[in-house]
Amino acid sequence: MKGIILAGGAGSRLFPLTLVASKQLQPVYDKPMVYYALTTLIENGVREFCLISTPRDLPRFRQLLGTGASWGLSIDYREQARPAGIAQAFLIAESFIGGDPVTLILGDNIFYGADSFKRAFAEFQGGASIFGYRVTDPDRYGVVEFDETGRAVSIEEKPKAPRSNYAVPGLYLYDNQVVETTRNLRPSARGELEITDVNIAYMRRGQLRVHKLSRGFAWLDAGTSSSLHEASAYVQTIEKRQGIKIGCPEEAAFRRGFVGREDLEKLAGRMPNCEYRDYLLRVVAEAGR
Ligand code: DAU
Repeated sequence: MKGIILAGGAGSRLFPLTLVASKQLQPVYDKPMVYYALTTLIENGVREFCLISTPRDLPRFRQLLGTGASWGLSIDYREQARPAGIAQAFLIAESFIGGDPVTLILGDNIFYGADSFKRAFAEFQGGASIFGYRVTDPDRYGVVEFDETGRAVSIEEKPKAPRSNYAVPGLYLYDNQVVETTRNLRPSARGELEITDVNIAYMRRGQLRVHKLSRGFAWLDAGTSSSLHEASAYVQTIEKRQGIKIGCPEEAAFRRGFVGREDLEKLAGRMPNCEYRDYLLRVVAEAGR
């Protein structure tokens, strides 16, 4: 499955931070925000990526992530001239997607909780798979409603009167129909190609599967100064307590077998003397035991 990381948008809610670097390049505790989305997809076996961002910010992402080769990945880059909707990503990345299924992740969504997506990726055979996550403020998100058998019966974007407490996080899996489905969409009242409309189209065709994310799984939002700070604090708490890192693409690539132990050691060796390097060298050492 191919992977798209959507990392554009105006970032206006983080102004003036976003005057110098886009939202997805801001630090979440000890690493750039986009590392978390990238790591989530690597953990689920994705190796071929397309990163979409604004013409202004794309060079910075290239500088940060490069071709991906040293992590055993390939990363393509595409521009989104203006934020015309999340679903526009499938049209921008059409030649990258080719004839394959594709997963899309929003570059400002941070997930943490071992194997929560594993089943969805492993069982994906076609149609669309999305997730439902219980929140107290569903009106800020896409909201999915279930019937008594657990089947999704409605999805609405930021409804004033939500029909459930289940928000749809920014990670989606689609078969190759997604490009054609998006082409047939009309822009919403706010002038965007809505990801929720893509999901509704799949639901109407009876091809949508919604996996409920379990209690204890963390889905963090980093879109405002306050939630960005909270996300950093969360990551710091877990990392300090457990001595592990969340959102470390080098480690994820190693654990998936995309790079070997020696490659990881070389990667770490090229880094300046820092805590991140020490961590990777510890991963190398522990793997050798
Ligand atoms: O975070 C999950 C939610 O993301 C979903 O529950 C909603 O259904 C979905 O519409 C979306 O809602 P948001 O209000 O968070 O969407 P927003 O416009 O803030 O865009 C999310 C990210 O995607 C943001 O970091 C910027 C980026 N983006 C957005 C648009 C519309 C782009 O790169 N290009 C775009 O055209």
